Amino acid sequence: MKALIVYYSYTGNTKRIAQMIQNDIGGDIAEIETVVPYEGDYNTVVDQGHEEVKRGFMPQIKPLNVNIKDYDTVILGTPVWWYTFAPAVKTFLNNNDFSGKTIYTFATNGGWIGHTFKDVSNACTGANVKPGINIRFNESSLVTSENEIKKWIEKIGD
Ligand SMILES: Cc1cc2nc3c(=O)[nH]c(=O)nc-3n(C[C@H](O)[C@H](O)[C@H](O)COP(=O)(O)O)c2cc1C
Repeated sequence: MKALIVYYSYTGNTKRIAQMIQNDIGGDIAEIETVVPYEGDYNTVVDQGHEEVKRGFMPQIKPLNVNIKDYDTVILGTPVWWYTFAPAVKTFLNNNDFSGKTIYTFATNGGWIGHTFKDVSNACTGANVKPGINIRFNESSLVTSENEIKKWIEKIGD
């Protein structure tokens, strides 16, 4: 069965890595999008994100163009928002059943990944959650080496 790469990206970093993974291993790709877009300047969204993470808010997301049931391997991409996955990813994880699936997570961030991977494990009950990769950016410049990312991609499916 093919792998699904599914990601949320607000400023494009996570999307870039998702595309890098698809170029390497193929498979299907789907973007998680909120029904209500985040608006305002970056710092406004940073503050809004803080408030949302604190109260465990799950924004409505648009239907995906794929059915999660068709995949047994899910490669999940999220930006880190306040030390965890983005609220839109929380909605996605909450709306789907990952039991019996193998999950690989890539989390892009500015250097403070927090408890993102632990939170993914807790949210995906019954899944085989593999070690994730912490991918650092400085704004939109990749800090983590492409070589390190390639090595992590090579382990998918082992
Ligand atoms: C609401 C918000 C909260 C953030 N919180 C963190 C954080 O806790 N730790 C961190 O290292 N970076 C944090 N960042 C930076 C992003 O994780 C980083 O820029 C990421 O690569 C953005 O991915 P994207 O371009 O796919 O949206 C935050 C950014 C936003 C917008």
